[in-house]
Amino acid sequence: VKSDGTRLFELTMRAGEKEFRARHKTPTWGFSQDYLGPTLRAKRGEKVEVKVRNTLGEASTVHWHGMHLPAKMDGGPHQMVAPGATWKPKWTVDQPAATLWYHPHPHGRTEKHVQRGLAGLFLLDDKKSQALALPEKYGVDDLPVIVQDVKFDGAKFDHGHGMLRDTGFLGDRAMVNGTLDPYRTVGDELVRLRLLNASTARVYAFGFSDSREFAQIATDGGLLEKANRLDRIQLSPGERAEIVVRMKPGERTVLRSFPQDNYGGAWQKRFGGGDDTFDVLELRAAKKLRPSPELLGRLGELEVPAGKDSVRGRYFGLLTSGINRKPMAMGRIDETVTRGTAETWTVRNEDGVPHNFHVHDVQFRVLEVNGKEPPPELRGAKDTVFVPSGMTVKLAMRFDGPADPDTPYMYHCHLLYHEDLGMMGQFVVV
Ligand code: C2O
Ligand code: CU
Ligand code: CU
Repeated sequence: VKSDGTRLFELTMRAGEKEFRARHKTPTWGFSQDYLGPTLRAKRGEKVEVKVRNTLGEASTVHWHGMHLPAKMDGGPHQMVAPGATWKPKWTVDQPAATLWYHPHPHGRTEKHVQRGLAGLFLLDDKKSQALALPEKYGVDDLPVIVQDVKFDGAKFDHGHGMLRDTGFLGDRAMVNGTLDPYRTVGDELVRLRLLNASTARVYAFGFSDSREFAQIATDGGLLEKANRLDRIQLSPGERAEIVVRMKPGERTVLRSFPQDNYGGAWQKRFGGGDDTFDVLELRAAKKLRPSPELLGRLGELEVPAGKDSVRGRYFGLLTSGINRKPMAMGRIDETVTRGTAETWTVRNEDGVPHNFHVHDVQFRVLEVNGKEPPPELRGAKDTVFVPSGMTVKLAMRFDGPADPDTPYMYHCHLLYHEDLGMMGQFVVV
């Protein structure tokens, strides 16, 4: 912390190696460590500054996914950090408690940079959420769960897409926080898992091996109004969910990803990973557990607009070849929005391939899925939403950051192969 109260972080993008499997040293990239990056944490109202150093042999960026901040600090493809250079973005945290993350965003190369290991969590706290007595002992009853699918070729990662695959890379096993076959011993009755799908193409439908129920307490942008009882939650690349699971003394259960109904057609289920089952993380409860307070009925207050005050609608047709049939162009601004206003964006998958949709700077409310009320797991603040073939979603969002007609924010498909191919567009706030 600096003398003026600014919280200072340092991230060095660097090459490394990690022994994921015994006697195999895999070449990796990471933020200030061999693989992945440290969990950053700040409070609402706090000023933060990050010193980003790039010691890689190529240019990259660091984007703060889910963060509301000025466009110049966003870390998109217009804020490249050259090899050897340092970039120092600063902003004031001005949004509710949430599980956000950070990762590179160089145009055309994001998939590669993330797959090599450049990703980390950025947690936000606020007073209201801290008063709720949720599990919040980091690493004890509040666990980061960064999920990535991987494949090895000898010591090296194999990032090949394979034939018959139009969504990008799919691995044949899952890692959590950079660890294969992970398990975790827990000592509390209630355990909070902060799930991040940091995979580049794979969609997961998380649940437990014994089909137990859990409580979803948060979406991408923060706490739900009330906990939502589920036995499955689907997360596409970039999405987060916080869930709370109840453990009994001495028992074990496995967080698993199950085959998915909501994944598009039979071809995609079979070759795009929708039919796959993956073990993700085993939880092993201690013989004696510390009692946890019950979850409260009311959690957060949503700060996303409800759609009634939207001053304008826009349409985004998702095709692998480009959003609204326009492949991304760095020099073209696709949309201009007015600062301080809310809008409703209709996003439709016009393809035979699954996509999702992520918008920088804002959190949105999902107003409709295929013309109906969204399922409970989508009734919170979101910045990324899964849009499989045949689906249309309506999203309400407000643009209340500073105006900057010269620096665009991005919206894109977060299946990173698609993003790199050009499934991305740019908007400015004026
Ligand atoms: Cu997580 Cu534009 O990205
Ligand atoms: Cu983002
Ligand atoms: Cu896509």
